[in-house]
Amino acid sequence: MNEVTTLTREGDIAVVTLNSPPVNALSANVREGLFEGFKAAIADDAAKAIVLICDGRTFIAGADITEFGQAPKGPGLHEVQAMIEDAPKPVVAAVHGTALGGGLEVALVCHYRVVVPSARMGLPEVNLGLLPGAGGTQRLPRVTGVEKALEMMTSGRHASAKEAHESGLADAIVEEGKLLEGAIAFAQKIVADNAPLTKIRERDDKVAGARGKPEIFEAFRKSIARKTRGFLAPEYNIQCIEAAVNLPFDEGMKVEAKLFRELVTGEQSAAQRHVFFAERQVAKIPDVPKDTPQIDVKSVGIIGAGTMGGGIAMNFVNAGIPVTIVEQAQERLDAGLAVVRKNYENSAKRGRFPMEEVDKRMSMFTGTTNLEDLADKDLVIEAIFENMDVKKDVFGKLDKIVKQGSILATNTSALDIDEIATATTRPEAVIGLHFFSPANVMKLLEIVRADKTSNEVIATSMSLAKKIGKVGVLVGVCPGFVGNRLLAQRQREANKLILEGAMPWDVDRVLFDFGLPMGPFAMSDLAGLDLGWNKETSKGETLRDLLCERDRRGQKTGAGFYDYDENRVPSPSKEVEGIIRQYAEERQIQQREISDEEILERCLLPMVNEGYKILEEGKAIRASDIDIVWIMGYGWPRYRGGPMWYGENSVGLEKVLERMQHYEEKHGPDFKPAAMLEDLVAESKKKAG
Ligand code: CAA
Repeated sequence: MNEVTTLTREGDIAVVTLNSPPVNALSANVREGLFEGFKAAIADDAAKAIVLICDGRTFIAGADITEFGQAPKGPGLHEVQAMIEDAPKPVVAAVHGTALGGGLEVALVCHYRVVVPSARMGLPEVNLGLLPGAGGTQRLPRVTGVEKALEMMTSGRHASAKEAHESGLADAIVEEGKLLEGAIAFAQKIVADNAPLTKIRERDDKVAGARGKPEIFEAFRKSIARKTRGFLAPEYNIQCIEAAVNLPFDEGMKVEAKLFRELVTGEQSAAQRHVFFAERQVAKIPDVPKDTPQIDVKSVGIIGAGTMGGGIAMNFVNAGIPVTIVEQAQERLDAGLAVVRKNYENSAKRGRFPMEEVDKRMSMFTGTTNLEDLADKDLVIEAIFENMDVKKDVFGKLDKIVKQGSILATNTSALDIDEIATATTRPEAVIGLHFFSPANVMKLLEIVRADKTSNEVIATSMSLAKKIGKVGVLVGVCPGFVGNRLLAQRQREANKLILEGAMPWDVDRVLFDFGLPMGPFAMSDLAGLDLGWNKETSKGETLRDLLCERDRRGQKTGAGFYDYDENRVPSPSKEVEGIIRQYAEERQIQQREISDEEILERCLLPMVNEGYKILEEGKAIRASDIDIVWIMGYGWPRYRGGPMWYGENSVGLEKVLERMQHYEEKHGPDFKPAAMLEDLVAESKKKAG
């Protein structure tokens, strides 16, 4: 035994207890503890059955992800599993918290599984770009049947105890808080009944029906194709389940091993594992200690009932925090609240919650035209149009109205929050909470720390983000903050590229194929080209002016950069091609053939470069935070790890620098390499000798 495992005996039941915080992941130490623990329990003649249970918050949450890529140490997981599965006495897994990945695979080699009602079980490997590599792909379908296994393994979803019980994954549910007693009683009954040592590997009943029926798998592939575009792991998981159905167990295990090896050594899984840790890192702020006191936010005030204000408000109400919304005019307030109601009604119609819930949620909104009504709110978020004077005026008033100790936040996406804070006598209370549209849907929240923002206000904002289901990323004050600052780089190059000879649909195609949800021109058409454009004042100077003047204002007018049919399906536009060519000619911009590679490099590498400038200026804490911003807020594909990961690991920093220098020579200072990028490359060259 070692320090993470203990073996005790309750009557004639041996209990192997694992305790390896935080999540009992299957590190070398844990594998060794399990191996030794089971060996001793099996050798103990007085023990008629064995219970495996974990201390702490959870059952085994999977392989130790930090060990991937390192040389294997200690007994392998397969060895531990064989010892458990071949034990000559019944083994009962007692599950609380989550049995995930390798954890569930350990439970699946036990002869029985008992769970508490709050327990959850799943094979989430797909989210790490992997497949369950310890027999899970062969055992899960044998327990739950093919359909559920396909769905669970390609989504990584955790099944509830009830679902696990109904599907056969769990044999019994025992009282919450009484897992050990319940599991021991269960084991005693198995012993008394002389029940068989069921091995899932020997079962065939749940998979036989799908044998020789490839159409089941084809239909499933089609059903998830859109959601899983670009990802390798879902397809590999499906192939393993096909093997479980069509091949003997040991042959299926060989398929699993081969496909697992391919994934675990591949680029996608490395990127997705990076994202897993990046998502957890992002909550850690080096100079704001974990025990920083926080403000108890029980009520929120929002200024502005527009699309943004309404969307932001919904987040808090959904989390059970009442909101007071302020608008200047009653009609605007009514209109804003009507939009919120409509959104809720649409969600109810889609089955997200019952219709009665709409009124319940609406009852948590208070509308007012009086700023004074915000006096007692713990957090006030300003979400009005982007004008510094108006915002300063509002913050000046809030400073006089709102009680001391509250947070005064702005949802600005562009303005200097340090300057906004000067309108108050309490700059330490001022912070940016930059939501992304639609604010009730998008996961990202940029939390913008101004010069004087207090730790208390930062810590509270980070916790609140989690509470309302967002991923909060702490950034500094600079134009565009992190997300839009990178976006501006891509937009600038996309606009230049279409004048130099690439067509909008070329640029969009390259970025879509890279894995982004849509290219910049499809995006503009969706948002509307006339955002901020005015017919009366249009000077016909920009490409946008020219398109809008021809009523090509995007999807809503049936034409923008693309032509749209009645189902809004886009096709390249001859008219737009003509407009662009003429526009370029008039400005003497030489048009030429542009390769896909150039499109990709010019759109993406300046983003990586800008990321280094952001880090240099201390406007983001770490490169992986920038990755999270782009994954959560802009749909950067997880299997490409985020822009900074992509630059460093897929392209390589030396090449990023070399390409930036190359384009700088051709196209000027837009491509000037960041000093930090130059330093990093110089350093790594020095190290390499
Ligand atoms: N390996 C190593 N560390 C892990 C880990 C794992 N499998 N799972 C979680 N951790 C770490 C986290 O990084 C975090 O560390 P820090 O506190 O240092 O940041 C800590 O454990 C707590 O994790 P969370 O903050 O996520 O805690 P939570 O309570 O919100 O969630 C959880 C717990 C549901 C288990 C969640 O951590 C999770 O989903 N973990 C990953 C589970 C998973 O993917 N398992 C499959 C692994 S692959 C595999 O098993 C392959 C195979 O077939 C052999």
